[in-house]
Amino acid sequence: MNVASPPPAAPAPALGALSPEAFLADYWQKRPVVIREALPSASTSSGAPDFQSPLAPEELAGLALEDGVESRLVLKEGGAYPWELRHGPFSEDDFRSLPDEKWTLLVQGVDQLVPAVERLLDHFRFLPRWRLDDVMVSYAPEGGGVGAHLDHYDVFLVQGKGRRRWRFSHAPVEHEEIVPDRDVRMLANFDPDEEVVLEPGDLLYLPPRVAHHGTSVSDDCMTYSVGLRAPSHAEILNGYARACAEQLAERDRFADPDREAPPEHIGEIDAQARKKVRRVVRNAAADERAVDRWFGRHVTRPPAGEPLLSPERPPGASELVEAIQRGTGLRPAPGARLAFFENDDGSATLFAGGEAYDLPPARAFAAPLLSDRRRLPAEVLRPHLDTDGVPALLAQLVTDGALERVSPGVE
Ligand code: SIN
Ligand code: CO
Repeated sequence: MNVASPPPAAPAPALGALSPEAFLADYWQKRPVVIREALPSASTSSGAPDFQSPLAPEELAGLALEDGVESRLVLKEGGAYPWELRHGPFSEDDFRSLPDEKWTLLVQGVDQLVPAVERLLDHFRFLPRWRLDDVMVSYAPEGGGVGAHLDHYDVFLVQGKGRRRWRFSHAPVEHEEIVPDRDVRMLANFDPDEEVVLEPGDLLYLPPRVAHHGTSVSDDCMTYSVGLRAPSHAEILNGYARACAEQLAERDRFADPDREAPPEHIGEIDAQARKKVRRVVRNAAADERAVDRWFGRHVTRPPAGEPLLSPERPPGASELVEAIQRGTGLRPAPGARLAFFENDDGSATLFAGGEAYDLPPARAFAAPLLSDRRRLPAEVLRPHLDTDGVPALLAQLVTDGALERVSPGVE
């Protein structure tokens, strides 16, 4: 595909001295790995700025006061009972009345709330964007954590501030036993075989179902969990089947006008009937284009299931072109995920916010251009404004709430 303008030089992968190829071959979805100085730190000679926690503990607590932000407090001790789980939004009084130690605050989806946390994802460009879910950020004073558990997804645990002791096992857990009657799902059969203390910039990668237990060993421990997405087979089959079913009419139903004779046994579901049912299932599954389109729409749906918001004043194509000429840029709107695939005929299908946009070959370059970046400054867009259909596509994406305008000079 002719990508007219390559994405800007990406920041170093969050893999320290490990190359993306070595990480993918040896660890990815296979075994845990601790990577010291995964993000540049004072002693890295790359010349890159030192890694610093994008958020301070107070700022994280501030997010947990807001409506619509998913936050939790886990009190190992000092709550109404051991390992009490409380759900946000919280009040300042909630924080003032916490004990000095052994609790943790967790805030989900912080990449959507704080641009500096979203930028952390630029260090994970060795994986396709649709595979990354969100960044959860935790703060814990000494002794805080969520207990021994496993996650069903891969996770990159970046130490942002302070220190955390991790204990983990190497092999994924086959059958977990859960401690009964606890607010938080905690493993009863935790048998770690490694213990490490991570410092800022260090990272622990865990494949799915690897048991782990992180405990803060400082009074300012902040951990950034970059969580992966791995749709379950049940989610894929349910979702695709529902999408297929929505396309069908009432009259599309079992029919057997070809029946020739009364059945030998009225209790039997005969071979011809079974064949007809199997054909319905097979035809749906054999439609590769429909499967691919469903998947593109599925993985770009806004995370909270809320539809994207159209702007109050949607722009016309020529109005948008003028604004871009004057320096207006674009960026994915909050909650908007973009992805694409190329088709055999050179056309591309772009997905944004759960919608599909078909781009003919002459416009196909716009799909990677728009979905590879977090920011689309005016200078990236301007060279393409003369391409037939591009202004209309951009205006449509803004109108649908997938892209939003960024005034000149605003990051
Ligand atoms: C944490 O940050 O405290 C928990 C992260 C995890 O164990 O997945
Ligand atoms: Co975990």
